[in-house]
Amino acid sequence: EPEVIRDKEAMRRWSRGVRSQGKTIGLVPTMGFLHDGHLSLVHQSLSLADVTVVSIYVNPGQFSPSEDLSTYPSDFSGDLAKLAAISSSVSDAIVVFNPRNLYDYDGDHGGRKKTNGGVGGRVVSCVEEGGLGHETWVRVERLEKVLCGKSRPVFFRGVATIVTKLFNIVEPDVAMFGKKDYQQWRIIQRMVRDLDFGIEIVGSDIAREKDGLAMSSRNVHLSGEERQRALSINRSLSMAKASAAQGKTSCTELKDMIIQELVGVSARIDYVEIVDQETLEGVEEIKSGVVICVAAWFGTVRLIDNIEINVA
Ligand code: PAJ
Repeated sequence: EPEVIRDKEAMRRWSRGVRSQGKTIGLVPTMGFLHDGHLSLVHQSLSLADVTVVSIYVNPGQFSPSEDLSTYPSDFSGDLAKLAAISSSVSDAIVVFNPRNLYDYDGDHGGRKKTNGGVGGRVVSCVEEGGLGHETWVRVERLEKVLCGKSRPVFFRGVATIVTKLFNIVEPDVAMFGKKDYQQWRIIQRMVRDLDFGIEIVGSDIAREKDGLAMSSRNVHLSGEERQRALSINRSLSMAKASAAQGKTSCTELKDMIIQELVGVSARIDYVEIVDQETLEGVEEIKSGVVICVAAWFGTVRLIDNIEINVA
């Protein structure tokens, strides 16, 4: 099984040791409960860097108090077994970073006993509720507000902050993000550019089940019937892309086509948007370099998916 590192100082020492041997480091940030989508990022990292750090950390900073952090699925020993199956062929090229709490600074240099950071702004995450005294957040101000940011106001701030922390602890050369979470990938890319992190960000293609459903930890919460209905997401995205290729370039018409398909299976739609791949700004007419993004609820499960259009 891969080595598990739990302490952030130990993680940093390991990385610096590896680096001093002239090796490159790939980082795959995850919240665990690994599926083949996560594992495809691990494979890609192994092909790009000498060693790969898979971080497994359910980040309280990206959950709002109303979202259930405590029921986020986990299976640490299963995760290790999946990584072991990969690492048996690449010996010691994978290590797992599984810290206990990255917002508890007790014992850190200069750290004070749990002070209350307060609930200053409008947006509140589980970290602030916990009152652990963490008060520094990374915000990608415009990109964090569109698409998923509308319904989840603290989410991307929490993601950008934890990814910054992981970058500072692991000091990787390259880091993998799935295009399944398209906005997340673009936000991290923009943050790395804007703040001059010397890290290459790689976007990985969406891993899908045989029937086309994008792999997600949340799929386990779908009933058989909901899962059947959820196939309408990928189906409608593919239909819209095909129509665009055949010359239907009105985004309003393409979005209507997707909405009809989703409404046809009584999905509750959060959004259907056609946006520029980098700015995530809405477009009126299909052109190369856009992405169609969908978020919809099936029962209590919110799913997201997207499809890129690179030639028009
Ligand atoms: P998590 O949901 O565990 O996802 C970890 C990584 O796996 C993300 O980059 C995500 O985009 C990628 N991923 C998930 N499903 C995928 C699929 N079907 N195909 C390709 N890639 C897929 O995303 C997070 O965790 C967190 O927000 C994190 C970045 C770790 C910060 O806490």
